[in-house]
Amino acid sequence: MKYQQIQNSLFKKNRKKFMAQMKPKSIAVFNSNDIYPISADGTMPFEQHRDIFYLSGADQEETILVLFPDAVSAKHKEVLFVRETNEHIAIWEGEKLTKDKATEVSGIETIYWVSDFDKIFFDLMTEADTIYFNTNEHYRQAVETQTREDRFIQKCKLQFPAHQYAKSNPILQNIRGVKEPEELALMQIACNITEKGFRRLLGFIEPGVWEYEIEAELLHEFVRNRSKGFAYAPIIASGNNANVLHYLENNQQCQSGDMILMDVAAEYANYSSDLTRTIPINGRFTDRQKAVYNAVLRVKKEATNLLVPGTLWAEYHKECGKIMTSELLGLGLLDKADVQHENPDWPAYKKYFMHGTSHHIGLNTHDYGELKTPMKANMVFTVEPGIYIPDEQLGIRIEDDVVIQENGAPFNLMANIPIEVEEIEELMNS
Ligand code: GLY
Ligand code: MN
Ligand code: MN
Repeated sequence: MKYQQIQNSLFKKNRKKFMAQMKPKSIAVFNSNDIYPISADGTMPFEQHRDIFYLSGADQEETILVLFPDAVSAKHKEVLFVRETNEHIAIWEGEKLTKDKATEVSGIETIYWVSDFDKIFFDLMTEADTIYFNTNEHYRQAVETQTREDRFIQKCKLQFPAHQYAKSNPILQNIRGVKEPEELALMQIACNITEKGFRRLLGFIEPGVWEYEIEAELLHEFVRNRSKGFAYAPIIASGNNANVLHYLENNQQCQSGDMILMDVAAEYANYSSDLTRTIPINGRFTDRQKAVYNAVLRVKKEATNLLVPGTLWAEYHKECGKIMTSELLGLGLLDKADVQHENPDWPAYKKYFMHGTSHHIGLNTHDYGELKTPMKANMVFTVEPGIYIPDEQLGIRIEDDVVIQENGAPFNLMANIPIEVEEIEELMNS
């Protein structure tokens, strides 16, 4: 791991919050992700399942966490199973979690080798009535592969058909949506690394550079600051590429007079940051670019102020739509008739701003978090309005990550990342 070890008090707190919501005589199990194959002996880099990481800090494959608050033996209230390490593995793969290290990382006293899981788990299940399965209920999930968790659930249902089943996901959506101070500190580090990357670009971007060269500059800056790299696939979209919302090719040469939209950010310790900046390739905004840019920036500022405890997600998005509509009228992109005759299910502004304004962010870029209950302090959201005008080869999005406060406006984790037109022009030309 490149990140500095996290104090295990965070994971202890997280487990306590999860267990407080479990039914009597119930057990919950969380599996690591698989290491996904490419072909031959190639594999994708390992990415830990964020739930087992959140509850244990274990950032290693083939790990299983069991939570059982009513276990007969106190030592089985929290159990972590890790892959048995040995000299051969140490020589070929390097350091793996020993039992002592697993305790140090997670704060869990009882560590077993994963090869003993079936036997110990069977015994624990004889004491339990209900088992919590960790299914994926994220509102954007579209998973086609069978995960390690899926295989475990399938096997468990066959082996223990008389137990009751319950869902971990609603509990995790509830607790992971509200961040602990330690998590906010980790997210601030991710945002600060992103800031370093963006500032580096302000001195690098000029007509003639290629989108992939910008990607390389960022990766260099991220990794040298202890990040694994990008928190999500980077979008580096010059000119009209900005109008492809999920543009990932990053293979075009930047042209003077065009803007470049960069939705690029670092992860740190598995926490995401999520930034978008759109800047003029030659370092100077045209009047039109500046007008559209400042309209997006005003929407972002006004939307941010709506993120306070009590706000409802759906209402917030309606309000953002109204703010955007007024800016689009001001820019002459919509006229009054467009708005008067708009379809309430697809309002007129959607022609130029067709995605959502905000999402929860944390261990996942599109993080867990309740969306149908009022917002709470210490939830973290992106704010990311955009205006996309293919007819003008222009697409502008601006995105920051903000923390809802008990009182007043949200705290912007990206407040130090240049955003105003004058600031960007000055830094690009100095
Ligand atoms: N970068 C992904 C998003 O902005 O949602
Ligand atoms: Mn983004
Ligand atoms: Mn985002």
